[in-house]
Amino acid sequence: MEAKKTVVLGVTGSVAAYKAVGLCSALVKKGVEVYPVLTQSAVRFVAPLSFESITHTPCAVDQFSRETPWEIEHIALAKRADVFAVMPATANFIGKYANGIADDLLTTVAMAVTAPAVLAPAMNSAMYLSPANQHNMKVLKERGVRFVEAESGPLACGDVGVGRLAGEEALLAAIFAALYPKRDFAGRRVLVTAGPTREPIDPVRYISNRSSGKMGYAIAMAARDRGAQVTLVTGPTALEAPGGMEVVRVTTTQEMYDAVTSRFPGMDVAIKAAAPADFTLDPAENKIKKTEEGGAPVLALRRTPDILAALGRQKGGRFLCGFAAETQDVESYALGKLERKNLDMIAANDVTKPGAGFDGDTNIVTLYARDGAKVQLSGTKRAVADALLDEIAKRL
Ligand code: PMT
Repeated sequence: MEAKKTVVLGVTGSVAAYKAVGLCSALVKKGVEVYPVLTQSAVRFVAPLSFESITHTPCAVDQFSRETPWEIEHIALAKRADVFAVMPATANFIGKYANGIADDLLTTVAMAVTAPAVLAPAMNSAMYLSPANQHNMKVLKERGVRFVEAESGPLACGDVGVGRLAGEEALLAAIFAALYPKRDFAGRRVLVTAGPTREPIDPVRYISNRSSGKMGYAIAMAARDRGAQVTLVTGPTALEAPGGMEVVRVTTTQEMYDAVTSRFPGMDVAIKAAAPADFTLDPAENKIKKTEEGGAPVLALRRTPDILAALGRQKGGRFLCGFAAETQDVESYALGKLERKNLDMIAANDVTKPGAGFDGDTNIVTLYARDGAKVQLSGTKRAVADALLDEIAKRL
């Protein structure tokens, strides 16, 4: 019989802490071994006894307690976890976790844990949206911590807005996705491109675009987590290089072309989420100076190589997925690119839509496949990445 999976369930001091009792019960009913760890603030909202009655194990609260079966409690708990879930997670916990502060049992477990971590924030909307909390969540996401985003609605404080703990089904789905990760890309070699490119005008200026790299990085990390051997070719971004993959940094479209076309023959799948500059020029040797007369230089632009089209020509049996960033006639432009560039699939985003396209953490994408399928995807860029990989996996 397969050994039971273990979830270390952190519960922090939010009004929503009582919902963790229901979550704990649902996990136990599904055959998961749960070790609850409550912060001192959580204990103000919900009794450890509630969890102990469900799990039949001591509920850990105090770092220095001698009443639990663990020898060095935080290390033993961290080692046991197949998944570390903190639900609800307060701004305080998220801030400490992001900054490596370990001043109670839960934060010391968080520091020691190597299992996948899933957080479900719950707090007042002003706190949720505060620059500090958003920054801390971003730091954790870049480290691979998964989030079940808070929902909008009436909050305990009387405000209406984002900050409610996500529903139990969403919490369970995220925990089970982490407990039983898909390995459907095991043995596949996947090339992903991300970010913008820069075309120098002179030593201090360049042509570029608003791509942050988030979409491509999310795809690369999702493919890695599903077992793929990933090569990420990235233009300049502010994102931390993800671990567990080859990361190739380039600046110009020509450099991206060289990096991608030379590696493509060794790949099974290529996904081109980058936004390479379409135009380049011969850069001036020195900084272009403003003239007294107030004239402006005329830049003689020429086309950069179309990387995706080049891959389409040498595709063979590989799976090739392009992206299309459009501001109008999205479907017809996307279908045109699918055909012209010999793609198997294209992910079209209308970059004028709120919540879609450049820089944000979410995207709204329509997939068009060569077999005629049309699929709508939306959510965090990580969720879109996983759904995109689901569609690719079906066709490999
Ligand atoms: O990076 P983010 O901030 O997360 O934003 C995500 C995104 C909007 C950049 C991403 O979702 C996206 O749409 N990427 C494609 C952007 C783009 O260049 O679209 P395009 O329609 O101009 O190009 C079509 C395809 O050709 C793309 O796959 C592109 O990578 C590729 N291309 C473009 C130009 C070029 N010289 N060579 C190429 O291969």
